[in-house]
Amino acid sequence: MKTNFAVVPRFLRQHPAMAVNIALSFLTMKKASLYDRRYRESTSKELGLIYFRITPLCNLRCVMCGQRGEKGVLKGKYAYEESKNIVPVEKYYELVDELSPKKPVFYMWGGEPFMYPDFMDLCAYITSKKCILSVNTNGTFLAENADRIVRDKWHGLFVSLDGFEDTNDSIRGKGSYRRVIEGFEAINKAKRKYDSNLPYMGIVTTVNRLNYLHLDELALAVRDFDLAWHIINLGTYTNDDVVARHKTFMKEKLDTNITCLQAYNTGYNEGIDGEKFKEILRKVHAIDNGYPIITVPVIDPDKIGEYYSDLDVIVRDNCTVPWSQANIDYNGNVHFCADYPDYVLGNITKDKFFDIFNNERAQRFREVLKGSPNGIFPGCVRCYQNMLCGQRRKGY
Ligand SMILES: C[S@@+](CC[C@H](N)C(=O)[O-])C[C@H]1O[C@@H](n2cnc3c(N)ncnc32)[C@H](O)[C@@H]1O
Ligand code: SF4
Ligand code: SF4
Repeated sequence: MKTNFAVVPRFLRQHPAMAVNIALSFLTMKKASLYDRRYRESTSKELGLIYFRITPLCNLRCVMCGQRGEKGVLKGKYAYEESKNIVPVEKYYELVDELSPKKPVFYMWGGEPFMYPDFMDLCAYITSKKCILSVNTNGTFLAENADRIVRDKWHGLFVSLDGFEDTNDSIRGKGSYRRVIEGFEAINKAKRKYDSNLPYMGIVTTVNRLNYLHLDELALAVRDFDLAWHIINLGTYTNDDVVARHKTFMKEKLDTNITCLQAYNTGYNEGIDGEKFKEILRKVHAIDNGYPIITVPVIDPDKIGEYYSDLDVIVRDNCTVPWSQANIDYNGNVHFCADYPDYVLGNITKDKFFDIFNNERAQRFREVLKGSPNGIFPGCVRCYQNMLCGQRRKGY
């Protein structure tokens, strides 16, 4: 069984400069967690990771998606209307110029990022600035863009795949599995053509009650695509009680109306049996297909049942995200919380990013977070960024 860090020697051997840049970004993100949150300043000069939710559009409608799933709002006519407000690529070039000296990891997502009109040009611009570029995609546009992806030296491709064919397509839509597989083949062909190890490519599986018993079938199906990782994202879920508490808290403390969290109250966590899931994870690890299998969050296998059945249980606390990360939304708004863009700090079409990152609203958010029980807000309990960067709670 490969450990979570098994991929590091490969990166170091093949692309030492990239490995060092990633390591420094992670250190930047870890720094704020090294000391008690009471002593953190309300401003920050650090930026390890910058997310771009670059478009509100997507060609799929995955059942558990917090944007476009059953309870998501970023779909249909509303998403179409919002797509008229996207930031022009010239503005993003200016932003990249401002950010690149800090060498954060650039993480593109959406919606489906390939639906941003100038996506390929923007990505090429980021890599030309010697910055690390990672793209999270549903994989359905990989085949037609494979040549440029490899030629322009993208670093990481995080491709969502939620199961082997039937399982995946029941979640992500008919034909989506095949298109991803064609994409893997096209990328590998282009890598041979350019004799390149880039991009490192891996899959991200979001766990829900439709796929958790079939993760081993997926692991077997993708073993020949020279993948670099398989991330098993345990998923973001919430319930009415958590949403109600979060709404009250955020209104009172930050005068913010919460609209995004409730879309994660999908119920797709219900019925996930911790013992059965543990057994499936054991099988997946036993397949040993040469790349690390990483659960996010890393969690004691005996606690997986609780993760899904008791959405109040805190597995990560002391969120440090606002001290080293931010998300730029498709309309230029800046937020700390990528999945929950309710609290707007400012907009990059009006102000410089680093002025926004430390403006009065940003400082207020950090101060309220520092003063909150466990260093998180009520709605943060299953936040993906917190699962990645929050402090591991004792016992979990
Ligand atoms: C919102 S998508 C955007 C990028 C692209 N459209 C894709 O699917 O990869 C980003 C990631 O969030 C995952 N995701 C969707 N619903 C989720 C949920 N309820 N909890 C956690 N992750 C979720 C997706 O599977 C995907 O890996
Ligand atoms: S492809 Fe991504 S953004 Fe589109 S519906 Fe699926 S998870 Fe959501
Ligand atoms: S844990 Fe809370 S404050 Fe931190 S990024 Fe997530 S939603 Fe935002």
